[in-house]
Amino acid sequence: MTNINEEFIDEYLRELVPKNKEFLIFMEKYAEENHVPIVEPEVAQLMKVILKSNKPKEILEIGTAIGYSALVMMDTLEGNCHITSIERREDMIHLAKDFISKTPYGDNISIIQGDANEVLNHMEGSYDLIFMDAAKGQYMEFFEKCIYLLRPGGMIIADNVLFRGMVASDELVIRRKITIVKRLRKFLKYINEVEGFTSSVIPIGDGVALIYKEDKSFE
Ligand SMILES: C[S@@+](CC[C@H](N)C(=O)[O-])C[C@H]1O[C@@H](n2cnc3c(N)ncnc32)[C@H](O)[C@@H]1O
Repeated sequence: MTNINEEFIDEYLRELVPKNKEFLIFMEKYAEENHVPIVEPEVAQLMKVILKSNKPKEILEIGTAIGYSALVMMDTLEGNCHITSIERREDMIHLAKDFISKTPYGDNISIIQGDANEVLNHMEGSYDLIFMDAAKGQYMEFFEKCIYLLRPGGMIIADNVLFRGMVASDELVIRRKITIVKRLRKFLKYINEVEGFTSSVIPIGDGVALIYKEDKSFE
């Protein structure tokens, strides 16, 4: 578990989450056996609630891995969206494409290979929702680039922002992780202060930040 909550709380919350479909359970087993980090069940459940209420049509994901979270989002929206997902590892993209090809959502998910910090510089478009789930130490840079791609009224979901509790407590910080921790603290402070956004940090999983981009058009 992640040091964020007492273990009994995490276990209880996880027990409450309904079981996923077979193809997602298969991917969960693959991820566990092969030590691929994927979004935690209680975080995925929060995302499902957000997706069902916001009904995003265009989603940008940073960090595809094996395509699990992309397929969770796609399945939640029953294919009524398009996801562009950025991943730097070729082996992961290969696996993701393989898993995606076994679902009806092959045409709905595009994967871009490359370092998100570089790829985001050249991207255009307007996304309804952005899921940040890669290189926690670079969230600030991702955020600065993503804000131009996020439509007013859109939301960024950033995972692992409490980083095993280290972000909230010096006592938990491992020496070699100090740079990531400092960067995440800076990022969380920034998203809570920056004008034009309303944010909330939720202590489930490894910590999730919800960042809403204000929509001034209806004022
Ligand atoms: C936590 S995993 C993503 C898990 C996935 N979102 C899921 O829940 O199924 C993070 C992924 O981001 C990728 N990654 C890390 N830094 C990146 C970067 N700067 N640009 C693109 N991909 C990156 C890693 O290779 C890894 O596959």
